[in-house]
Amino acid sequence: MKDASANADAKRAAGERAADLVKDGMAVGLGTGSTVAWTIKRLGERVREEGLEIHGVPTSYQAEELAIASGIVLTTLNQHPILDLAIDGADQVDADLFVIKGGGAAHTREKVVACSAKRFVIVADESKYVEKLRHPVPVEVLPFAARLVEQRAKELGGVPVLRLGKMKDGPVITDNGNFVMDVGFGTISDPAALARRLCGIPGLVEHGIFENLDELYLARKGEVEIISKER
Ligand code: 5RP
Repeated sequence: MKDASANADAKRAAGERAADLVKDGMAVGLGTGSTVAWTIKRLGERVREEGLEIHGVPTSYQAEELAIASGIVLTTLNQHPILDLAIDGADQVDADLFVIKGGGAAHTREKVVACSAKRFVIVADESKYVEKLRHPVPVEVLPFAARLVEQRAKELGGVPVLRLGKMKDGPVITDNGNFVMDVGFGTISDPAALARRLCGIPGLVEHGIFENLDELYLARKGEVEIISKER
């Protein structure tokens, strides 16, 4: 798990608070990363202490392992194609609740799960909250199409960087067997337009811009603030 120590108290506060949203009988998407890990652990406590009966759909190998260790019963999207709720972390969230995800290279499954949910909640500390997105956009790429995606990302004004492993030589391989590129675009003035253009690149499996956030659980100044999207 990356960066578990930075802003640890805030991550824990936001992550644990969002676990209160989960009610008996729900099917819940379980996100990836060090913030939502607190949600998963807290849900495990609630299963043990309250007898909470839920089914979880993990978004990554990491989330699956943690959910199993926490005692959460798992299911699949094929068994539960409509989830009651999905909770996940973020790399950056802007004032209009556009989100960049994929710092853990899990954004493809995270997006599928978030889009299967009736309600999508992000948990984050205040370092993630910005006026305008400027974090590089992670894109999952078919290895076969790596050069083409790189070229097309440059044509969109991006600076693509192939993500390399830390304890492995060569590229990071996702849970789906693909590469990840982090594409810098500077400040992103229109995330929806950029998302549409990225979707048009053949061989780009999924990009990390999320447009369907309902609520942000943001830990700042010792409190967890809930910021909702007006729909
Ligand atoms: C994984 C993600 C994570 O949710 C995101 O990177 C945030 O992680 P953390 O809570 O550890 O800062 O998108 O693909």
